[in-house]
Amino acid sequence: MPGVGLEHFMDLLMDARDAQAGRTGGTPRTIEGPLYVAGAPLVEGDVNLTDDADDTGTLFMSGTIKGPDGAPVEGAILHVWHANSQGWYSHFDPTREQTPFNNRRRIRIGSDGRYAFHSKMPNGYSVPPQGATDRLMQGLGRHGNRPAHVHFFVEAPGYRTLTTQINFGDDPFAADDFAFATRDGLLPVPNRQGDTATIAFDFELQKADVASDEGFSSRIRAAA
Ligand SMILES: [Fe+2]
Repeated sequence: MPGVGLEHFMDLLMDARDAQAGRTGGTPRTIEGPLYVAGAPLVEGDVNLTDDADDTGTLFMSGTIKGPDGAPVEGAILHVWHANSQGWYSHFDPTREQTPFNNRRRIRIGSDGRYAFHSKMPNGYSVPPQGATDRLMQGLGRHGNRPAHVHFFVEAPGYRTLTTQINFGDDPFAADDFAFATRDGLLPVPNRQGDTATIAFDFELQKADVASDEGFSSRIRAAA
């Protein structure tokens, strides 16, 4: 059975709570992870996420943010963040300096619901060998590898804020991911041409039930 890690357990709890409340449908939700940083540049249009040089290919990702009726969502902001090719996130990079907010943006979406960005492609990464997480995973008979992936929040007036992420569907660890497990619908396979990878992915939001659905949870986050 894939995914016996603590974070997968949290996903299952979240799903169970939603199912009990009759809140299903739309893009599957996942945990946020600890590496979001508030205050990323707010940008529009066909966006470049990457400020720093990085010896890797280019990721192109685009699609539409829709509601349950399939119509584009108006007024959305897409928060996106991912690691560099070495598996490190800006603000959390112990190996070398990354420019603040490298590979992090908030994208203001137009009334057509379309988003598009490109960036220096993330690779998969491993948790530090013999660190606490690695020992925990090994104790559970699991590896601490994560496939290449991209994190998102999607917020829009009148819709429930979506926290999710996609794994590159052709990554060897895509369907065997300790922090994620296999979530149908979050494993898009990139179209690879030379050193570029192109992912088409649409987000579907749920309607908000209450105003608090539209905000982020009140957990403490890193601030830059
Ligand atoms: Fe991550």
